[in-house]
Amino acid sequence: MGIVRVGFIELWVRDLEASLAFYQGLLGFRLERQEEGRAYLRGYEELEWSLKLTQAPRAAVRSLGFKVEKEEDLEALKAWASSEGLPFRLEADWGRVEILRVQDPFGYPLAFYHRAQKLERVLQRYHEYRGPGVLRLDHFNLFSPEVGKATQYYRERLGFRLTEYTEDEEGRLWASWLHRKGNVHDLAFTNGEGPRLHHFAYWLPDPMAILKAADILAGAVQTDRIERGPGRHGISNALFLYLKDPDGHRIELYTSDYLTVDPDHPPLRWSLNDPRRQTLWGHKTPKSWFLEGSLLLSLEDTPLSTRPSPLQGLPEHVI
Ligand SMILES: [Fe+2]
Repeated sequence: MGIVRVGFIELWVRDLEASLAFYQGLLGFRLERQEEGRAYLRGYEELEWSLKLTQAPRAAVRSLGFKVEKEEDLEALKAWASSEGLPFRLEADWGRVEILRVQDPFGYPLAFYHRAQKLERVLQRYHEYRGPGVLRLDHFNLFSPEVGKATQYYRERLGFRLTEYTEDEEGRLWASWLHRKGNVHDLAFTNGEGPRLHHFAYWLPDPMAILKAADILAGAVQTDRIERGPGRHGISNALFLYLKDPDGHRIELYTSDYLTVDPDHPPLRWSLNDPRRQTLWGHKTPKSWFLEGSLLLSLEDTPLSTRPSPLQGLPEHVI
């Protein structure tokens, strides 16, 4: 299908100014445009906007965006949606003339685009950096009550490659990490009530930037925004810090995973019983991290109903 990488996320937020105070004011995202209850932001490495905040009556996720390689890939995706009987529609947005929105068989509101207006290159305007220096959108992590099926579908139908997975002794899949762009993931599925968004993640330049984010939140007396970390995952090897925005959307600040571009890169199996997969350093994860997530919207902008996972375990067995 020619999916290149994760491209953007659109969040519904209840108080746009409060959200901007968090994303722009504290995390230092670049605000590129603001109009009529909408704001478009990006990290310092990005040439296209990647985060859209829309003022709305409820907190939710409207779109999970992916860039495709060519115009024709949108046609192929349209044909896929038609043949599968999936709801789809075309939209335009600021700087993106054609966005194909498709609700996949599991409910996730995907959005595909190719053409995008390029913004000014600001990577080396170091004097303009604010906050910890957020560079680029890295991945989405999605709650799913059917991780096995979703993983198989995304590999076989959409061309995603598996890099890591968590499995129990009966061979049931509890979580999976799938990529297109050549690092550990563009997309992960996590066992739990779904479909919901668990979190979205932005890449930071190095571990010190992650610590700087924690210091900034401490300085602003907003440590209640810190949910988990800093720490290092066993899975993906990444340094992480999980934050909750003013609407409870979870954003991960993420760095130092690894390359997976080899076509024969072997997926790494983790046992569900191995606690090192979650936190290599051994500290405990708060219960909220396993249970809370963001609601998703249908293509009609109505909240999607969710269902619990049949895989029941201890909260720490969610992934
Ligand atoms: Fe993540």
